[in-house]
Amino acid sequence: MNPATAARRTAAHGSVPRPDDHVIVLIGATGDLSRRKLLPGLFHLSAAGLLPGRYRVIGSAPASSALTDEQFREHARRAVAESGITKPTGDAWDTFARALSFGSADPGNAVPLAAAIQRAEKQIGGSPRRLFHLAIPPAAFGPVVAMLGAAGLADGARVIIEKPFGTDLRSARALNQAVHAVFGEPQVFRIDHFLGKESVDNILAFRFANGLFEPIWNREHIRYVQIDVPETLSIEGRAGFYDKTGAYRDMIVTHLFQVLGFLAMEPPTSLDAKHLRDEKAKVFEALKPIHARHVVRGQYEGYRLERGVAPDSQTETMAAVRAEVDNWRWAGVPFFLRSGKRLGASRQVVTLGFHEPPLRMFRAHKEDTLAGRLNEIVIDFADPGSIAAEFLAKEPGPEMSLGAATMAFRYQDSFASANALKGYERLILDAMLGDQALFTRSDGVERLWEISTPLLENPPPVEPYAPGAWGPQPSADRLVAPFRWHLPEAG
Ligand code: BG6
Repeated sequence: MNPATAARRTAAHGSVPRPDDHVIVLIGATGDLSRRKLLPGLFHLSAAGLLPGRYRVIGSAPASSALTDEQFREHARRAVAESGITKPTGDAWDTFARALSFGSADPGNAVPLAAAIQRAEKQIGGSPRRLFHLAIPPAAFGPVVAMLGAAGLADGARVIIEKPFGTDLRSARALNQAVHAVFGEPQVFRIDHFLGKESVDNILAFRFANGLFEPIWNREHIRYVQIDVPETLSIEGRAGFYDKTGAYRDMIVTHLFQVLGFLAMEPPTSLDAKHLRDEKAKVFEALKPIHARHVVRGQYEGYRLERGVAPDSQTETMAAVRAEVDNWRWAGVPFFLRSGKRLGASRQVVTLGFHEPPLRMFRAHKEDTLAGRLNEIVIDFADPGSIAAEFLAKEPGPEMSLGAATMAFRYQDSFASANALKGYERLILDAMLGDQALFTRSDGVERLWEISTPLLENPPPVEPYAPGAWGPQPSADRLVAPFRWHLPEAG
């Protein structure tokens, strides 16, 4: 890692280095992800003064959906207006819009893209860096990487590759081979935008910057961990992708296991990419294989009627998993992971449940039914994020009766949010700086598919659930017994 990057991750406030001059190529520029996240994110970075002094953004798509430069600017303007925090107006927008151009590319013909890159590099002058962002369906990663190699565009470039990286161990290995035939591992940035979320990165600060929490962060004190990411959204017209993917591949094996890596890792020697990813890889090594008996798969009623979904689809729109990290710190502590579409709320929550005291010296209190849930640290990692310790306290009055109490840290109360970056923005910036710490490494990705193999080869049947429920019952609740899901919260 370059020294500027290492310094950035540990530096005091206000010393953020700027990346070198860049040509950023968005492959899949007309797709959903570019529209919702990448174009608005790049504009926000530009308006915040975080992009390099000189940069160009080239949109790319197959010739069949090619745009002119002008059409691409209009496409980007609309995307930013729809989904951006910063609205596309004024000098900030004009500067960004001037940096946009378009070059089509197909596996047999990268000439228009190569020409657009050449033009952009000439306009910038010197030797700008090149960053490709592959915002395309997983099946296209291999052919597009090969195309970049064959067209001579990959030399010295960096590439951001979206998730899911493969669909099983075999395909992930094949994809790693195809990528490594063109790019060396230091050039490869497998993105998982959950790792760019402020509150997920804050898990490292919470654990390793304070003497208060780390001593209790183990099996002696923690009975269970939950990583719960329910969504109220349906598949939002993404049947083509989703029906082939399902909740396990879309969310669990990617985002939720990455969060688990941060929660479960040993203190790394430093925050640089090697040490951080080495520790995460050790956690993945220690994960026990996932079998059908550890998993509940649900499908919301009405899913099969969504446009583009097979009428007999067996794809799960909700998955709940009981995972175990079989090492000295965590042996015997279940990690419950759940995510799905059309569930009861949209939340992103980690819950650590602590052992109760060995003796109950208080009379049965009225919160008794909640008692298990009141011994918890709850990390809400949806932006802007919060951390709460939920515990029992004495209620005022003559009796020794207990009530639910909370100690809470809320990002918005403690820090100005002006500097906050969305996951994608943070990670694109890191990729431009060459910092791989928050990107997944080939060994880690392959290991996660490896432990998933028994499940993928022999999945349990999908069970229906009503939209707005919390997955199929009683299976979803049984999976966590004798504990309870923290969500939905009481009250
Ligand atoms: C994506 C998944 O990676 O993450 C989507 O493909 C999911 O299905 C999304 O909705 C959730 O991300 P966010 O940014 O809303 O936390």
